[in-house]
Amino acid sequence: MELSATPRALVELGDIELYDPAAYQTADQHATWRTLRQNAPVWFHDRPGATGFWCVTRHADCETVIKDHQTFSSQEGTILASVGVGDAAGGQTITLMDPPRHGTVRGPTMRALGHAVVRDRAPRIRERVRDLIAPCHDGEQDFARLMRRLPMIIAGELMGVPERYWDDIAIWAAACIAPDDPEYALASTPARTLRIAHHELFACFRELIQDRRRSPRQDLISVLISLDALDDREAPVQDWRILLNCYSFILGANTTTPHVASHTLLALVDRPDVWAQLTTDPAAVAGLVEEGVRWTSPTHHLVRRVTADTSIGGVSIPKGDWVVAWIASANRDSAVFTDPFTFDIHRSPNRHLGFGGGPHYCIGAPSSRLALSILFEELAAAYTRFDRVGPLVHLQSNWINGLVSMPVQGIPRH
Ligand code: HEM
Repeated sequence: MELSATPRALVELGDIELYDPAAYQTADQHATWRTLRQNAPVWFHDRPGATGFWCVTRHADCETVIKDHQTFSSQEGTILASVGVGDAAGGQTITLMDPPRHGTVRGPTMRALGHAVVRDRAPRIRERVRDLIAPCHDGEQDFARLMRRLPMIIAGELMGVPERYWDDIAIWAAACIAPDDPEYALASTPARTLRIAHHELFACFRELIQDRRRSPRQDLISVLISLDALDDREAPVQDWRILLNCYSFILGANTTTPHVASHTLLALVDRPDVWAQLTTDPAAVAGLVEEGVRWTSPTHHLVRRVTADTSIGGVSIPKGDWVVAWIASANRDSAVFTDPFTFDIHRSPNRHLGFGGGPHYCIGAPSSRLALSILFEELAAAYTRFDRVGPLVHLQSNWINGLVSMPVQGIPRH
């Protein structure tokens, strides 16, 4: 299924189930989110036998939740799987820290991933993107599988991960976010798959950290090693904290960028007029990437835990409860976006929350914007269009709006 162009009828509140990962594989949840935006914008989702959570679905409310870190904390987990149980890495990684301590990791690492660094690497990224899409010239390709490597072209480079690890890391990262998905099964049960994926990723980063301790370089792993603040100014920083942060960065890149690439190409398959604009108006690519992020909303949700009794939209929410800001819903809110179910690369302003907002606003946004722009410039220059030649397979995940398989055929210009 494509991301629904016209949402189906509203659903009964009593029928809503937003936790089950399998539900996301067969249908998108836009009818449910639209129902909640319209009829119950701050709504408590019960889970029999487990901790329930508040669902916030309007753009304005989602923005409040992700920007107000004092009331809505990231420390105990930021995904649905953490609700009620927390996250073992709470307080230890950039994603799971609140300001002001969060800033001690964010500041130096942001410089290592900033516009200037990324711009310098643009020629190399373009070279690698050309190599990545070269197989499309040979006929049918599974674009979703091809795009697994795209985030490594940016995050792998910037972190200093040798290319020989890239393909394995992409699979381990996917297994970490969707251990239930048969595509990424590394063992007989999701729990074992998760254990193996964590073990492999950590073993790989442990080796790289040891290497950088011996010979520091100009890369993100070396920056993380130099952050005494990670250990409350005890030096040297312990490897396990660096490891957890490497994990955050590699997951941040791998869980999002490939799916924006695939969903955006999918939107273009059905819109030849938009494809044509990309070749005649190079500036259109920037609008395409922004709309691609809004359209895809690769992270369905962001979770926060309430630090003090509060209220949203007049609904009281007690301290200790969990709030889920449904980013995918915010990005289809008609209060902010005209015709939100229309794919419009000229949308301006495009105030999507696809990269989050507030203190945790995506640190990889400059690099992913650049990689996605280069990707679509290169595709539009080399192909007159892409056709779909097989069924789509969606990722089994309540967190990531992912495509596992998307067979396509590119029609080359020459
Ligand atoms: C289109 C691609 C991407 C999208 C849509 C995206 C989306 C997001 C979102 C929604 C957040 C906010 C998380 C929160 O508030 O809890 C975030 C944070 C983050 N992203 Fe991205 N991301 C993308 C690419 C990347 C890349 C390429 C990297 C690594 C180079 C990356 C690394 C991170 C990290 C480390 C954070 C945490 C920042 C912090 O807590 O201060 N992301 N991203």
